[in-house]
Amino acid sequence: MTRQLHLGGFLIASPVTHSHAAWRHPGSETDYFGPDHYHRVGRILERGKFDFAFFADLLAAPVRFGGDQSEPFRRGTQAAATIDPTLVAASIAAVTSRLGIAVTKSTTYFHPYELARVFGSLDHLTRGRIAWNIVTSLSQAEAQNFGFESHLEHDERYLRAEEFVRTAIELWSSWEPDAVTADKESGVWADPDKIRTVDHIGEYYRTRGPLNQPRSPQHRPVLIQAGASETGRNFAARWAEAIFEIDPTPEGRRAYYDDVKSRASDHGRNPDHVKIFPSFIPFIGETASIAREKQAFHNELADPISGLITLSVHTDHDFSQYDLDAPVADISVSGTQGLFDVARRLSQRDSLTLRDIGKLYAQGVLLPQFVGTATDVADQIEESFAGGEADGFIVSSAQTPGTFNDFVDYVVPQLQRRGLFRKEYHGTTLREHLGLGSADEDLPADLRAESTLLAG
Ligand SMILES: Cc1cc2nc3c(=O)[nH]c(=O)nc-3n(C[C@H](O)[C@H](O)[C@H](O)COP(=O)(O)O)c2cc1C
Repeated sequence: MTRQLHLGGFLIASPVTHSHAAWRHPGSETDYFGPDHYHRVGRILERGKFDFAFFADLLAAPVRFGGDQSEPFRRGTQAAATIDPTLVAASIAAVTSRLGIAVTKSTTYFHPYELARVFGSLDHLTRGRIAWNIVTSLSQAEAQNFGFESHLEHDERYLRAEEFVRTAIELWSSWEPDAVTADKESGVWADPDKIRTVDHIGEYYRTRGPLNQPRSPQHRPVLIQAGASETGRNFAARWAEAIFEIDPTPEGRRAYYDDVKSRASDHGRNPDHVKIFPSFIPFIGETASIAREKQAFHNELADPISGLITLSVHTDHDFSQYDLDAPVADISVSGTQGLFDVARRLSQRDSLTLRDIGKLYAQGVLLPQFVGTATDVADQIEESFAGGEADGFIVSSAQTPGTFNDFVDYVVPQLQRRGLFRKEYHGTTLREHLGLGSADEDLPADLRAESTLLAG
């Protein structure tokens, strides 16, 4: 059987996703705070046999650019207004039956017990279709919303995240799969010998457990991450079963793919069970020139200041202090270093100013744009997939739900005809869609040796 690719649809429960122009697009829907919009998108992605819908999330309104929040609200930039994706996931789950749903939640500002309970519940409610995008959060504003003066230092965030994920897995493993008997005759509901206390006392977290919830269908959510820095890649290769990546260059994508796969092997994991998902925005037209017109119309709507407002959030660095018509300064940032490295690489390679990078950021957070007829876009996907850059792709939208509709109606059939993508869902859980092993199998080797973390 030909190696098949996987697909995720990128969303944020807000007017802005990667594209800061999408909400202004005449074709875009505007009911971002009601259920119908997400039900429509969920059904479209399921009709396209997508593996999952992916919800990114940020925990604060943007204030980093010039320390001002009025412009972000006026321009409606990323995360200026969002609703909680865990709740949107439960809503989409009710109107779909196979589509996986990935939800972002931070290890820095929540407690492992609360998170384990939320994602265990979502795995029950979705009948095994949930994934957790593990983030350490990005900005000072998020820290201040949770009562902290400043955001934790980059690598410390990952140290906390390491203990957080371990503790959550201990909690998800605190019930044996067959602990619940629910025997009405004898009146015995569960076997207490198959439910264990966790008693985790760590450097950052303490929790007694067990989780007051039976084992969920996938045992635990599929783990997703997007680390791109040295520390981030190591963390992603150690824990993640799917890794989300942004890099507009084929050589950058290939290098990331090879690097992370080899790190996963170093952690004693099967690299085939660590799926790499670069992302792109498609512009599809009946002809290539119609597609280019759609792209030009969209990109013209994107304003550089909106892009720099979001770049400042993602990097937790105030870019309003620089000359917008000068190249991007050679600085280190405390937010997402990986994404900033891509911006600087582009600025040097193509002699782009900070304003140019702002424009690119507003057009789609540096995501490459695949433009052309459905055949052209399928060709670009096949070339990237066959070129050792990806196991799957995160599709982001220029207008919502229009981009997803066009992609499902015109590009998916092309990929299916080429044998590159499923024609039907074969499994019911997200783990099955992604072709992963069992929840135990995919843990790093050192943890597979510890029984308390195993499903048993
Ligand atoms: C493609 C991509 C998507 C991300 N999505 C989110 C998100 O939704 N919420 C968030 O707080 N951080 C998000 N991040 C930030 C990462 O989770 C991570 O914290 C950040 O990339 C820092 O990692 P690094 O410095 O190791 O690259 C994302 C990063 C990338 C590259």
